[in-house]
Amino acid sequence: MNKSSSVVEFELSSLTANGSAPAGHGVVPTLAGDENLPTFSMPATDTSDPKIGTGSKIMRRILSIYIGQSGRVWKHLSPSVRNRSVTRAWGRHLDRLVRLSADRQQYFATFFLRNRAELELLHRLADQKPQGARFDMTVLACSKGAEVYSMVWAIRTARPDLQLNVHAIDISQEIVDFARRGVYSLSGSDAMASENEEAAKQKGDVSWNTSRDQNASMFERVSAQEIEVMFETKGNQATIKPWLRQGITWMCGDAGDPGLLAAIGPQDVVVANRFLCHMEPPDAQNCLRNIGRLVKPGEYLFVTGIDLDVRTKVALEESWSPITDLAREIHEGDTSILAGWPLEYWGLEPFDDRRPDSQIRYASVFRVGQASDSRELAGSGRSQR
Ligand SMILES: C[S@@+](CC[C@H](N)C(=O)[O-])C[C@H]1O[C@@H](n2cnc3c(N)ncnc32)[C@H](O)[C@@H]1O
Repeated sequence: MNKSSSVVEFELSSLTANGSAPAGHGVVPTLAGDENLPTFSMPATDTSDPKIGTGSKIMRRILSIYIGQSGRVWKHLSPSVRNRSVTRAWGRHLDRLVRLSADRQQYFATFFLRNRAELELLHRLADQKPQGARFDMTVLACSKGAEVYSMVWAIRTARPDLQLNVHAIDISQEIVDFARRGVYSLSGSDAMASENEEAAKQKGDVSWNTSRDQNASMFERVSAQEIEVMFETKGNQATIKPWLRQGITWMCGDAGDPGLLAAIGPQDVVVANRFLCHMEPPDAQNCLRNIGRLVKPGEYLFVTGIDLDVRTKVALEESWSPITDLAREIHEGDTSILAGWPLEYWGLEPFDDRRPDSQIRYASVFRVGQASDSRELAGSGRSQR
């Protein structure tokens, strides 16, 4: 998802962490629905300030050491041990502390065909449209464009008859300009070598922009055959083909801007993936509510890469219906994010169907403006997991 940071790096950054505090007496609260699971205690401290230990450098230091040491132990656990309920409870506890104390920051990292199950669900939604219908889709936080072109590829491959009208929006003008050009480097980048970085940046270098914030290639999830279908390749450069560029309006904009609805109009599908986790939870909540208003009543919102507590709270309060079709596959469809849990704030908690709120907690797609019943897609004929 973004540059991986080792536990050691986390420790350093968390010394200046400005996350908010665990509950009053230093006992870390269990997550909703975890009442029967063990709790873990941290030493008590005065947290009269809402940020962890802001009055206490010592507390931050203790927290940092505790997370660092715990992380080292976690990394040595086998998958079967991690899967035990007591270990999972400990993972949730660590995750909670990591999120509370994280220094969140935005990244441009992205992948083509990042989550196959998500693309499959989009295909199924497009399939519900009548022949030749208009299909309005907005992709927020589009970064380098990989997600936009991947989604256009999924829809146009399945339903070339639809009048697909896409808004691709990011808060960075620079990255929108790069995405619009649709030209990428296929090779690992020399420009990322620190001595070349400044010059590459100045030139708006394709190689530098392609590699920016990536710890793996943007193309790592795409087969050679798919590259041939989506790109014109010349040497090390891959340029998006014209059939995937049509119908896209690229815009610089803020997903949290209440004026966005007037600018783009109501949408059949809004995609808000993997950027809300980089905001502080109260900002992410406000932003997500604004994003929900962009969706036509009865249509669909895709939202992943966000703290699950934030998404669940907003979904319940706004009465969004979780889509159960492919919910588990989508949740587990992006391995890089799953691998980050519980030591990175952007890591994704494993799907746990023992939780009473699992249907809403692990849904990544919602029907907006409908009564809050979980649902499968009409006519999909697939059973819920
Ligand atoms: C990690 S990338 C996500 C890329 C893509 N959505 C994906 O899932 O692969 C995060 C992107 O969010 C953009 N971003 C951050 N805050 C935003 C906001 N308030 N409105 C729109 N874009 C935003 C950043 O500029 C960055 O390009």
